[in-house]
Amino acid sequence: MNTAQRLQSVKEYYFSSKLREVKQLITAGKPIINMGIGSPDLRPNQEVLQALVSSLEDQSAHQYQSYQGIPELRTAISAFYQRHYQVSLDADKEILPLMGSKEGIMHISMAYLNKGDKVLVPNPGYPTYSSVSKLLEAEIMAYPLDEKKNWCVDFEWLEQQDMSEVKLMWVNYPNMPTGAKLSADDYKRLVDFAKSHGILLVNDNPYSFIANDEPTSIMKYVQPTDPVLELNSISKTFNMAGWRVGMLVGAADTLQEVLKVKSNMDSGMFYGIQKGAAKALALSTNWFEEQNTVYNKRKDLVCKIADHLSLTYNKDSTGMFIWCKIPSDKTADQIVDQLLYEFDIFIAPGHIFGSQGDRFVRFSLCVPEPKIEEALKRVQSR
Ligand SMILES: Cc1ncc(COP(=O)(O)O)c(C=O)c1O
Repeated sequence: MNTAQRLQSVKEYYFSSKLREVKQLITAGKPIINMGIGSPDLRPNQEVLQALVSSLEDQSAHQYQSYQGIPELRTAISAFYQRHYQVSLDADKEILPLMGSKEGIMHISMAYLNKGDKVLVPNPGYPTYSSVSKLLEAEIMAYPLDEKKNWCVDFEWLEQQDMSEVKLMWVNYPNMPTGAKLSADDYKRLVDFAKSHGILLVNDNPYSFIANDEPTSIMKYVQPTDPVLELNSISKTFNMAGWRVGMLVGAADTLQEVLKVKSNMDSGMFYGIQKGAAKALALSTNWFEEQNTVYNKRKDLVCKIADHLSLTYNKDSTGMFIWCKIPSDKTADQIVDQLLYEFDIFIAPGHIFGSQGDRFVRFSLCVPEPKIEEALKRVQSR
């Protein structure tokens, strides 16, 4: 049976295929340390687990749930945005809970993109922005992020391009994979840029709390009629990636359009998961401090590994990855393969995030300290 033509434009997600190989190596007895993927290994808060468990006996716990999430979750998201970002959102109209922010990328794209529309995606950037655009037969316009400009949006470059057919722009700050942050001025410039060119701007913001003590949101710089949305997620912030809870926030009418797509694709999120997510969003600031203490210790160790391999990095970067530049005599694949086959350590090559990542590799901090210490010993052994 021939597949739809659109499938020819995308490959299986890198981690989906590479992790198969890594699993095979593990099955063959290799003691692989996986420093490739950003799946938090730390536990969610105990109160969150308790909220899920105790919700199981609630009367409607096992029925279909609202397409817009339970009011308690929307209220918790609204309070979270107010408390941490000083952004006021109407819990009934300006918040749409999602099953992870990844699905939001598809929903927004399906709601707004026609075949041939142009989409601005960051290079390097989260591969899903491009793959979803390709699945919808939109045209990708990759905008370069450059190490020399601290991986920030290059407005001069953007202003030199023809924006007439651009419909949608993805930005992701704090940035994955580079760990860069954006200044308040740059957020404002982005909003102005989107407004002046009639582009729907979406900031993807899942990393704002990780190794970062100044969490912010693009919504701070947005007026109610501006064409700007933000995706956020509890996956990384609360160690709940497998729960699949994210959120989209922005203007009520735009969210209604996205809901037309979403409500035809799922039938609501499991009640207990929503109760747990609401509890997580209300956790005190101690939670973030505790997580970051762990991440900072891990970061120090990963930096030692990078030093040993003559990789360079910016230690002040945010997020749960260390983005390392490789020496000029090597390729990223050579380093990834060397680590995998000689040292049983899996890391990600930068090129999977776009050509601007060619000279980089990415280490994840989602690995317990003793394992990072073991990885360090392995690389120091030769
Ligand atoms: C930049 C970025 N956006 C979105 C996601 C997806 O997160 P979620 O678990 O909320 O779908 C990820 C996950 O790795 C990510 O790195």
